[in-house]
Order: sequence, then C-alpha cells, then structure tokens
Amino acid sequence: MEDKAFRDYLKDSLEKHSRRAIEKEEWQKLESKIFFHTGGYDDLESFTTLEEKILGLEKDLGMESQCLFYISTPPNVFEPILDNLGESGLAKRNHGTQFASKVIIEKPFGKDLESAKKLNHVINQRFDESQVFRIDHYLGKETVQSLLVQRFSNSIFEPIWNRNYVSCVQITVSEELGVGTRGGYYDKSGALRDMVQNHVMQLLALTAMEPPSSLDPEAIRDEKVKALKAIKPIDCKGEIDEVVRGVYGEGLIDGEKAIGYLSEEGIPSTSFTETYAALCLNIENWRWKGVPFYLRSGKRLAKKASEIAVQFKRPPGILFGQDNRFSLAPNLLVIRIQPNEGITLYLNSKTPGLETKLEPINLSFGYETTFGSNTPEAYERLILDALNGDGTLFIRGDEAEISWKLLSPILDEWTGKETVGLETYSSGTWGPLAADKMLLARGHEWITGKHYK
Ligand code: BG6
Repeated sequence: MEDKAFRDYLKDSLEKHSRRAIEKEEWQKLESKIFFHTGGYDDLESFTTLEEKILGLEKDLGMESQCLFYISTPPNVFEPILDNLGESGLAKRNHGTQFASKVIIEKPFGKDLESAKKLNHVINQRFDESQVFRIDHYLGKETVQSLLVQRFSNSIFEPIWNRNYVSCVQITVSEELGVGTRGGYYDKSGALRDMVQNHVMQLLALTAMEPPSSLDPEAIRDEKVKALKAIKPIDCKGEIDEVVRGVYGEGLIDGEKAIGYLSEEGIPSTSFTETYAALCLNIENWRWKGVPFYLRSGKRLAKKASEIAVQFKRPPGILFGQDNRFSLAPNLLVIRIQPNEGITLYLNSKTPGLETKLEPINLSFGYETTFGSNTPEAYERLILDALNGDGTLFIRGDEAEISWKLLSPILDEWTGKETVGLETYSSGTWGPLAADKMLLARGHEWITGKHYK
C-alpha cells in the first residue's frame, strides 16, 4: 500500500468506528506522520530498512522515538517476526531508556503448554519481560478493571469473600454469535483455547486472588499467578464431570434460523472442535478450599453475557427456611462485565401483604445509568498502557504458562477421543445438558439465564 492509500484507509476506519467525530486539524497533523512499510515477516532486509526509515524520521522530527511493535498475525509467523526484530536491532532500540522498544503480542499465545513455553523462550531471547505485552482484551474492559476496585476498596466484601460464606462462583462468557467468517482459525482452536485459556481464566484469577501489597503491576500479577497455581489439576476421568464440551447444532437466534457449526463456512464436515466448554475448578488454598468455581464459555448460546456470579451460602432455615411457603434464595452478587455493565446484589425480601412471603429482590448499579456511556474501548486503554510501559493489564509469561498447564491435560484427553462427550446443543440454548448436570451433581445450578435476569 502507498502511504496515501493507508492514510485514507485509517481515516475511513476512524469515521466508521470512532466514538468521536474526527477533529480536522488534529487529523491533518497526525496524517502527515503516518507511513506504510512493506516487507515479508521472514525477510530480515525489510526489518533493516524499517530501522533506517525510523532513523530518518527521528532526524526529521529532531527527537528520539519509541517503537511499539504490535504482532497481530497468524501465530506461525510470531517466531520469524520476533527473530527479525532481534537481528535487525529494532528490539533493543534505546534499550534501558524511557524510549525502549516494546512489543504487543496478540493471542493465541501458543496452543498448549509446550508451544507457550517455546514462544516465551523466543520472546525472552529478544526482549526483556518488561518490554513484552501479551494482550487479552478482556483485561482492558472497564468492568474487569473495576473488579479490583470493587473488591478491595469496599470493606464489606473482603470478610465474606471466602469458603465460610461463598457457596460457589460461576463465570459465564457466552456469545450469541457463531464463528462467522473466522472458521479457518476457530476450527484449529475451539472454545477452550479461544476463550477459556485466556479471558475466562483471567476473570477467575481476578475474582480469586488475594489483595496485592500495592498497585504495582508485578504485585498484582504475582497474586494472580498465586491464585492460578493453587488450582487443583483437573481430573478428566473422575466419576463426576469436571469438564464438559459441546458443539452448536441448528437452532434459533433472536427468532432467526441459525445453521449448525458443521455447516459454517470453512468448517470441515468431519470437525470435532468444541464451540462450548465448561469446567469445575477447585482452588486449594485457605480462602477457597471446597468452593467450586464453575466456568463456561460458548458460541451460539441464548444471549451474550460476560458475568461473574458469586453465590453465597443459604442462611440456616430456622426462621424462614423450614417450609415451602418461603422460597429462601441464596444471596448473589452478580458482576456484569458486558453488556449492561454493572453489579447486582440479590437479597431476600418480604413481599407486601398480611402474609409473610419472601421473594428475591435486587439492588442494582449500572455503569451507563450512573456514569453515562463514554467508556473507552478495551484496546484504547491497553495500547496506551503499553506505550506507557504499564503491564498491569497484560498477561505475564508465567501466567500464560500456568493457565496452559492446567488446560493442556484436557486437550490431551480429548485427542484421539474426538467424539466422546462432545454433545450437540441447539443454537440459542444454554449449551449441553451435561453442563447443567455437572452443577446439579454438586447441588448448584447455573445462575445466568435461569431465575435471575
Ligand atoms: C476473542 C475470541 O478473543 O473474543 C472471539 O477470539 C470472541 O472468538 C471474542 O468472539 C469475544 O470478545 P467480546 O469482547 O465480544 O466479548
């Protein structure tokens, strides 16, 4: 692409997608500083000429610059790109100064433990960990960031955020969308790799972690790593399921007929890729021992929802629990990541009238109602943080490896047993029945999509 064509393309994208209208003067100033450089991922010379081009620009501008490389490519070319950034000297530009180069790496960060370790090794040969930003766009979502604030800036939660009061934690990341045009990528990935290994595990880590000693990025990431390390290895062969998988069949989404996964573009009819995965995890530490963490994520489900539901233990039934007149519901704290971002606390209340009857009521906070709808996009926040060298909302190398360590045995277990336990669920439902049974076997049921709206 010529520089001009690239600038026009960016302007067009801004006009289509930006939250704000373009400010003409600002755009003109910026536009003249946008350039397009062509080169092969595996062609060292194109990286060397990029370095020369940057030197020329610095000369024109009369100042040093910082390079932020954003690797958002098919994963099989991560390695040649990283090697060439190293060989050309771009990776170590201004090393040790405030203008040190940085690199953002998009998912998928490996496809199992072994490949993630290998990738970390390649990265760390070329970049220091402080220069590396493994992106997970869920961490840039406003509500995910505020999870830490809600947990640790309100004194009412901390005393009850443990096995003495919590009966289970449920994390749901559901989508109405199918694979769309991304079949080629998705079929090699599946729900466990595409959503659970990164987004869902991050939500779990933030929910389960201990309070960090400070807001320093490493202090926060250390606590997340500790929580992930305390998760008991999954037993794929146990008597009660700890893992469920499924694939969407035909069904109805918003009243419209939706096709099944195997009929989607780019999906081989012999595919065994899961579009839904649910897990029951146990965290073996003082805070959480005995509290199941149920995680689920899937495509073509009944609605789009990313939520964390903390379900508290029922009160002893001494006053209101001893007969059926009172439907004593457990207290619930539901943190809605998206849509309709906010928090709802469900309590039992007396319904008006002469009789004493109970009904769950809710106290609800909505971001949009309280703060208006000017929330930055996750990527806005994350790219700015990377430029500033703040890694708080990025995944550290050891974090990625721990998550894979936990999930790789499941992938191994599925290999060679592709059809075993792969349940087809109708599009527009809440997924495989086996996932409901997994909770029922432990005296729970999924909150999202049931009685609580
Ligand atoms: C991406 C996955 O990381 O997240 C997609 O690769 C998924 O398959 C998407 O659709 C969901 O993101 P969001 O922000 O819409 O919840």
